Amino acid sequence: MSNHSQDPLLLDHEYDGIRELDNKLPRWWVWLFYITIIFSAIYLAYYHVVKAGPLSAGEYTAEMKLGNELKSAAMGKFEAGIPALQPAADPVVLEGGRQIYTKFCAPCHRADGGGLVGPNLTDDYWIHGSKYADTVTVIWNGVPAKGMITWKSTLKPDEIQAVASYLYTLRGAKLATPGKPPENQTPVKTAPSGFE
Ligand code: HEC
Repeated sequence: MSNHSQDPLLLDHEYDGIRELDNKLPRWWVWLFYITIIFSAIYLAYYHVVKAGPLSAGEYTAEMKLGNELKSAAMGKFEAGIPALQPAADPVVLEGGRQIYTKFCAPCHRADGGGLVGPNLTDDYWIHGSKYADTVTVIWNGVPAKGMITWKSTLKPDEIQAVASYLYTLRGAKLATPGKPPENQTPVKTAPSGFE
């Protein structure tokens, strides 16, 4: 023991030269400690005994439910409005549509819309109708049995409107390489421009 152990608060143990003073804990600290104990008791009773409030998992489920309701309401609204939709002419929307087309649609419909696995989208022959609303509907619902994907689960309504509008601009396009010939489509002869 060193000889400077005069301090009455100094305890008589020492570890590697570290010694301890027996100071009283500050009152504010002690109260803070009591408050945390009281808080934990209330918390435990509220959330786990009485189960008065939702836990994180419950809050998550509730928010997801609300989110899904909002989403299906928005989807329902869009779907109901399809027959009245007009193709967008805004270059920004069309550029967005072109990017979506290149990313998601070109693998099956060819970069220029000439058709590969999927039919030619630049000619006058339509399996599902030549109206703009027909195009939106077929993109929205897809034709799963024939290999055309249901895009409503991947793309947002705005994106579907954008890509459909872009497709509209491809109608009657002069292709560098000939497009896919019509298969069994009922020929719906529509002029390259001024479609219904
Ligand atoms: C996995 C391949 C595939 C992808 C990817 C694909 N399609 Fe298709 N698409 C098809 C096939 C196959 C058909 C023909 C469906 C039928 O025979 O009824 C089709 C049909 C269509 C039609 C209807 C054409 C008509 O003659 O009535 C449109 C419009 C269309 N696709 C747009 C799109 C758009 C837009 C995308 C991208 C968001 C896309 N497709 C992505 C395979 C695909």
